[in-house]
Amino acid sequence: MMTSYNKHILITGGAGFIGSHLVRQMVLNHPQYKIINLDALTYAGNLSNLEDIQAAPNYKFIKADIRDISSLREIFNKEKITDLIHLAAESHVDRSISNPSAFIETNVLGTTNLLIVALEAWKENLSSHRFHHVSTDEVFGSLGETGLFSETTPYDPRSPYSASKASSDHLVRAFGHTFGLNFVITNCSNNYGPYQFPEKLIPLIIHNIIHSKALPVYGKGENVRDWLWVGDHANALELVFLKGATAQTYNIGGNSERKNIDIVNMLCSIGDELLQRDPGTSSKLIQFVTDRLGHDLRYAIDSSKIQSELAWTPKIKLEDGLRKTFEWYLSNTKWLEKVINGEYLEYYKKNYSL
Ligand code: NAD
Ligand code: TYD
Repeated sequence: MMTSYNKHILITGGAGFIGSHLVRQMVLNHPQYKIINLDALTYAGNLSNLEDIQAAPNYKFIKADIRDISSLREIFNKEKITDLIHLAAESHVDRSISNPSAFIETNVLGTTNLLIVALEAWKENLSSHRFHHVSTDEVFGSLGETGLFSETTPYDPRSPYSASKASSDHLVRAFGHTFGLNFVITNCSNNYGPYQFPEKLIPLIIHNIIHSKALPVYGKGENVRDWLWVGDHANALELVFLKGATAQTYNIGGNSERKNIDIVNMLCSIGDELLQRDPGTSSKLIQFVTDRLGHDLRYAIDSSKIQSELAWTPKIKLEDGLRKTFEWYLSNTKWLEKVINGEYLEYYKKNYSL
């Protein structure tokens, strides 16, 4: 018997870190919606992130590349896509420094392909279909010691990654303004939690603590990020997708600003305790390494708009979230070792002279 669903929601990048949390949440919370996960399964995509829900009746995975417009057309037609939450992206600043073109191809051209195909598919009734574009606070540039990014902060991207995301944000707004596409954009701060690929700061440091390897801290470790538990981000995305006002932007942040060195020291203490090592053992592994080119000093988010309009707040405190994350990586060493493949080791060797 054919089941009929109220919406057929395409989530791109659903096999990645944030995407897999969102896909799981949408599949479990909304049996009346069909969730179609489109992912190219690059080095950062991993279907084992979703093993627990892969058999759910309202879930389907499609391997496809957003750089390929004809396959997107086919999927929109065949799956009768009604709405889109777009997370697929090249997402790592360091890789954008060594290979900027990949970021333009996926983040700029891939997003444009989705915009064109969505417009074609939904042109009869644009207002009843939603295009939710997931973006980053890095589009706003870098802050000094004080101040916060708000939704009206002028864009000032400074890495190839953030420039490609800024470009995609502009294109989404342009399609809204020019053609009347019903869009929302969310710009979020740094996420952490289970299933994050270990090239990003927190899982990389956890992995290296577990294996007693050097802990690479760029520069002096003085750069500041605002950290958000990934589940809190997924909750915000669900809320904005369902209830956000058309053509609006919502900033999402954890209200948890920390210097990198403080994050690394917190992870060292948690690691010593969980691994039953003498206090101070892991912090001896810290090594200050050559700074990232053009390293943004500080990101911090003013999330008062989503808090007041949609009643969203971050629920997990940084200290608790870091402990939960460390515990998750310790109980999922197989997941961690599986994603650390030859390509990753090659990248690691090139990026760090450790
Ligand atoms: P990720 O790198 O873990 O996942 C990206 C996913 O996109 C992967 O599954 C990958 O296979 C897929 N993908 C890449 N290129 C593709 C292509 N051409 N076609 C189809 N799929 C492709 O990234 P993430 O950390 O989960 O980030 C998801 C989104 O959230 C990105 O758009 C990112 O810019 C944004 N974001 C991330 C953070 C963060 O802290 N991680 C913060 C704010 C915003
Ligand atoms: P990252 O997780 O790559 O996220 P983003 O660059 O998007 O903020 O890095 C977070 C911070 O940690 C950033 O200031 C760079 C720094 N960093 C290190 O000091 N060492 C590392 O090995 C990595 C990957 C990042």
